Amino acid sequence: MIKLDIEKTFGFVSKESVYAYAPKAQAAAEALEKGTGLGNDFLGWLHLPSSITKEVLDDINATAKVLRDNCEVVIVAGIGGSYLGARAVIETLSNSFEWLKEKKENPVILYAGNNISEDYLFELTEYLKDKKFGVINISKSGTTTETALAFRLLKKQCEDQRGKEMARKVIVAITDAKKGAARVTADNEGYKSFVIPDNVGGRFSVLTPVGLLPIAVAGFSIEKLVAGAVQMEKACAVDVPFEQNPAMIYAAVRNELYKSGKKIEILVNFCPKLHYVSEWWKQLYGESEGKDNLGIFPASVDFTTDLHSMGQWIQEGERSIFETVLSVDHVDHSLVVPSDEQNLDGLNFLAGKHVDQVNKMAELGTQLAHVDGGVPNIRICIERLDEENIGQLLYFFEKACGVSGYVLGVNPFNQPGVEAYKKNMFALLNKPGYEAESKAIQARLK
Ligand code: PA5
Repeated sequence: MIKLDIEKTFGFVSKESVYAYAPKAQAAAEALEKGTGLGNDFLGWLHLPSSITKEVLDDINATAKVLRDNCEVVIVAGIGGSYLGARAVIETLSNSFEWLKEKKENPVILYAGNNISEDYLFELTEYLKDKKFGVINISKSGTTTETALAFRLLKKQCEDQRGKEMARKVIVAITDAKKGAARVTADNEGYKSFVIPDNVGGRFSVLTPVGLLPIAVAGFSIEKLVAGAVQMEKACAVDVPFEQNPAMIYAAVRNELYKSGKKIEILVNFCPKLHYVSEWWKQLYGESEGKDNLGIFPASVDFTTDLHSMGQWIQEGERSIFETVLSVDHVDHSLVVPSDEQNLDGLNFLAGKHVDQVNKMAELGTQLAHVDGGVPNIRICIERLDEENIGQLLYFFEKACGVSGYVLGVNPFNQPGVEAYKKNMFALLNKPGYEAESKAIQARLK
């Protein structure tokens, strides 16, 4: 089971002040449970792990098999909550070089619809020209510009290259039950489709088909992932007292640190496979808490890589930060540092040691240095990077986010601020229906 260690925050905030949050955290957990808090129409994620049925998982696995049997490459088209969870899990569990291997065990998973870069889309469509590819089109609203634009290109290319009949087989839609262009297209074309429940917001949707289908296509066990999430659902349940409840403690300590002036939380890893877990986490916490002029700014670094770039700032910059480290106990492979007769690099003192022993000492050394430099340190200890542990981690962060948002006093389940750029973009592009906005924005630009 993943473990939370907040001991190294106590030089900065007192244990008493953190534990004083117990009633607030308990009340927040109860508001989630009873559905009495803000945004209570988006609580479908709360008991999702324990309520997923075998039929749903079987259906997802059967669809994944169709894609695996018929595709060398599968494109996950989606943005924000509609792709980050899948990417976080897939990149964490995948061999880093699988996609470069001649003989691949799994289809290559690529991503689109998460930017509007012409070069990115051109290069992707070029790469796909001689590939048997399929598409998972993911959009809850079914109208997100980035995703719809990429899907328009990919659908046409898939049909042109593979024929309409095969395209129908290897394009899958994950979207709303009734509304949105993605639903209409899926129904008109006869694509296999999955529904994103109304009461699950994008950033909380990794344990719906949004995350589970791409993860299954990539060759990972969604049963084990869900089992891990179920374990964490129990460990963070409303009736688990504060002192033993990792979600409540994490919510409490980060709120207390925030109150004490630590406005930025940096999620740290020492394993590059976790990079996209940080991207997923940033969206989860950033969109959930960053509103009403409040909220910790969620940032992330990959160590030791970024110790050679951001390390200086973290050690000696403005003291407005704290770190949360994803610490992995066991690696999957064994690699020992060889001895070298000439020892020109002076590394013979490491000969015979595992690379991970060196990494662990870098991690410990960094923790001590950063704490000495005034950076409170939270550790999340993960046994190993497998489906079960990642399932635990995802649910832990989701539950803690709900509790933390309520403790902060915001609605963690809306994102009104993301509309502002869209309105301007549509006005600038003269989208029908935006005539007044177009006029106003053009006047501003004169
Ligand atoms: O968490 C969210 O709600 C957002 O990040 C959405 O997931 C993102 O904007 C994509 O929206 P949609 O799934 O409607 O295309």
